Amino acid sequence: MSSQIDHLLNESRQFPPSPEFVAQSIDDPALYERAAADREGFWADQARELLHWHKPFTEVLDWTNPPFAKWFGDGELNVAYNCLDRHVEAGIGDRVAIHWEGEPGDSRSITYAELTDEVRRTANVLADLGVGEGDRVAIYLPMIPEAVISMLAVARLGAIHSVVFGGFSADSLRSRIDDAGAKVVITADGGYRKGKVSALKPAVDQSLADRNGEGEQQTVEHVLVVKRGGNDVEWTEGRDIWWHDVVPAASAEHEAQAFGAENPLFILYTSGTTGKPKGILHTSGGYLTQAAYTHKYVFDLHPETDVYWCTADIGWITGHSYVTYGPLANGATQLMYEGTPDAPHPGRWWELIQKYGVTILYTAPTAIRSFMKLGRQIPNEFDLSTLRLLGSVGEPINPEAWMWYREVIGGGETPIVDTWWQTETGGIMVSPLPGITAAKPGSAQVPLPGISIDVVDEQGNAVENGAGGLLAITKPWPAMLRGVWGDPERFKETYWEKFEEQGFYFAGDGARLDEDGDLWLLGRVDDVMNVSGHRLSTAEIESSLVAHEATAEAAVVGASDETTGQAVVAFVILKESFLAEHTPEGLATQLRTWVGEQIGPIARPRDVYIVGELPKTRSGKIMRRLLRDVAEGREVGDTTTLADTAVMSIISAQVK
Ligand code: WT7
Repeated sequence: MSSQIDHLLNESRQFPPSPEFVAQSIDDPALYERAAADREGFWADQARELLHWHKPFTEVLDWTNPPFAKWFGDGELNVAYNCLDRHVEAGIGDRVAIHWEGEPGDSRSITYAELTDEVRRTANVLADLGVGEGDRVAIYLPMIPEAVISMLAVARLGAIHSVVFGGFSADSLRSRIDDAGAKVVITADGGYRKGKVSALKPAVDQSLADRNGEGEQQTVEHVLVVKRGGNDVEWTEGRDIWWHDVVPAASAEHEAQAFGAENPLFILYTSGTTGKPKGILHTSGGYLTQAAYTHKYVFDLHPETDVYWCTADIGWITGHSYVTYGPLANGATQLMYEGTPDAPHPGRWWELIQKYGVTILYTAPTAIRSFMKLGRQIPNEFDLSTLRLLGSVGEPINPEAWMWYREVIGGGETPIVDTWWQTETGGIMVSPLPGITAAKPGSAQVPLPGISIDVVDEQGNAVENGAGGLLAITKPWPAMLRGVWGDPERFKETYWEKFEEQGFYFAGDGARLDEDGDLWLLGRVDDVMNVSGHRLSTAEIESSLVAHEATAEAAVVGASDETTGQAVVAFVILKESFLAEHTPEGLATQLRTWVGEQIGPIARPRDVYIVGELPKTRSGKIMRRLLRDVAEGREVGDTTTLADTAVMSIISAQVK
């Protein structure tokens, strides 16, 4: 890890917020003081101030059975009511909740009153389909308002949603539907991407087909289909239902029932190291408290005037917490965009910021780097002067991209919040508060008020300023994951075993503290890759490669990439029989396409190298660290633990 620490050492620039920003900001240093004095009391205050409780809680945290936490355990609430009805009751029903823009340029602005009605209708439809408390509903949709509506309708019924990113393949969808035992799938005929309709319904059909084998129980009873792309779709009578046939006809009367604070809200699958996706489970009261709290203070939210835009897809945790739950709980007005940043022209994002007067932009370093590559002349053509705050999430943002973001997009003045968190943490954990913190390009800086984080050594001892180590969360937090769906052992092993004695959560990230005590994130300490801000597991892609008939063995690493942060690089050993009849180039191309189809385009390897051997330890473990050296064109590191030390020079030669 020390090599990763080195190149971060020299950043010393600091950017305090302007006096004008400070004067209007809601951020108050008293937040830190209150939280430090009484952490649980602080969270109880947030839960009471930010949410409506049908039944107030009397207990804040129950940590008697770690790592299974209960927050606000005897309280009751309805998550959707908190995001919708109560705003209408408070008289802000006319405020726009979502300005939605489709990729082809069609648009809709939906007020809180309208959104509330739509969610009530959808909840009635789902209830008619038999969805109730604790049932699972899979959501496989493009970035259209129905995605948010579906999530909230499921939440309103006390059921559990599992959103599957629309870019995932039928196989990925299938494993997620099966693991969760979904009763209903909500999808669309397709959605617009890069100027074309990308179909979704066929993947759902495929994921539900061929269920006659043993142990292949079909749990899905209905598929609710939104018409978006205008595609013809195959239809299974009795199972498939058009959204437009049932939702508009449904009643907009629906009273939100109260559910326990620990009622599950959603499962979101994330890649694990074993290749089997992990269903990260989040519950209601604590999650919504932290989503609302962080969205309010990290983005210095002024809900009456701000137009907020988080560019994440709802298929990722950022879309859950900072498109759906945080902003809507806070009564914010936001922009939602269906398509890709470059369609129909490379200035599309900047055009949207100008059109809607966006004031807060939250995006990923990978997007910023791809805009940097295109050049500042593109954003310079648009009026971005409404922007007053910028955010970054998903991977470390290198100081160069940070500076470009501030200067070119933020007009040289806006604060930037670099927010560290994970699918598992549910909400932002480490971030500057823009009205208080003097920002440092490249550093996520400090744990938020109420969050306890340390950089520790292998033994769990906090390191001193200036030193590196492992990022550990030392106290439970409201939006923490409550488990891995159906696998409590995996939950304990993955996150809690490393620092079992101390009761710390191990985030899996390396970090260092600088001389001021600010945090610098250094990436995953294991082999999981981060492509465009999305965590992909080596094992999942390797399983996919090996599933191809030509492949004997495969190893995958993440190699640094200018645009996507990391890119997938695969090393593949072919079966002898295929070597004779095919060219390595032809097979490499086939394998790239194959992975794209099996897992999704995001997992498609940038490079596939056909090699004769893979570097392994004596116990047979692939040493990915060495392959990463090759993939990044470095001299190969320490090979002493290899079973066969000659193997690396052979691989290097083959790659060249
Ligand atoms: C991993 C979590 C949080 C939503 C998007 C990704 C990396 C995330 C930062 C940041 C450095 C970051 C970490 C983390 N990461 N944000 N600001 N600086 N690294 O969610 O897929 O669960 O991935 O993304 O490695 O552990 P995720």
